[in-house]
Amino acid sequence: MATSSTRTVPQTSAIPQHVAIIMDGNGRWASKRLLPRTAGHAKGVQSVRRAVETCGKLGVRYLTLFAFSSENWRRPAEEVTLLMRLFVQALEREVARLQEQGVCLHVVGDLSAFEPRLQELILQAQAQTAHNDKLHLTIAANYGGRWDILQATRRMLSAQPDLATDPEKIQEEVFESYLSMAWAPEPDLFIRTGGEQRISNFLIWQLAYAELYFTDCYWPDFGEDELLHAFEWYRNRERRFGRTSAQLHAKSAS
Ligand code: IPE
Ligand code: IPE
Ligand code: MG
Repeated sequence: MATSSTRTVPQTSAIPQHVAIIMDGNGRWASKRLLPRTAGHAKGVQSVRRAVETCGKLGVRYLTLFAFSSENWRRPAEEVTLLMRLFVQALEREVARLQEQGVCLHVVGDLSAFEPRLQELILQAQAQTAHNDKLHLTIAANYGGRWDILQATRRMLSAQPDLATDPEKIQEEVFESYLSMAWAPEPDLFIRTGGEQRISNFLIWQLAYAELYFTDCYWPDFGEDELLHAFEWYRNRERRFGRTSAQLHAKSAS
């Protein structure tokens, strides 16, 4: 992670550098129209395309989308199968567009649970777009914040077994370097569509100081205007990182 918000006060800007979104409400969008839930997921793919385009245009550097949580396996088998099929389809169809837009694709989560074909497509898409640097698009798939913390702990202790005998040496920077998005700054703006106000095991470590934006809009209806509205809301936040408002004003006056 570039800088830890709890170790150093990060630089902020009017446009969030890193936006993380829980794309929720696909099922309810479809049910409202008397369509199967899966129609909502299919429609949601268009909103992903729009969000990538708008973020690229506005100069956002990192966009992270929660596509499938480690708890979503609890859903009916047909829905899980359709979601996997949509993921395969998107990887097959969208990579060329990502290339054109200078997007570097990353997929984070426990990918070992996916069928081999999907794992292969993920590796290919990541390799094909690895040299792009305009926008880093991360898809969190079979991802859970708790999984991330556990896998980081396991990898850290395997790579540096001496830390187990000298735990004082486990500083935030050491631990964070093993998290699955260690290469990205922490999210500045978190958005959840669909009306629920919870984190649902998304980036629980990394969201420590993110601004949290909730909207009732269902994900398939979330377009450029809704994203701009979230950005406008973000621009008006005072990000204090533990300091007082007076301290911030004194700093900007000097
Ligand atoms: C989000 O929409 C997509 C995934 C979790 C894969 P939902 O499918 O959760 O839609 P609702 O919340 O049931 O409306
Ligand atoms: C969170 O949505 C996960 C994704 C959007 C991928 P859920 O619909 O699974 O969350 P809960 O169950 O309402 O908390
Ligand atoms: Mg949901």
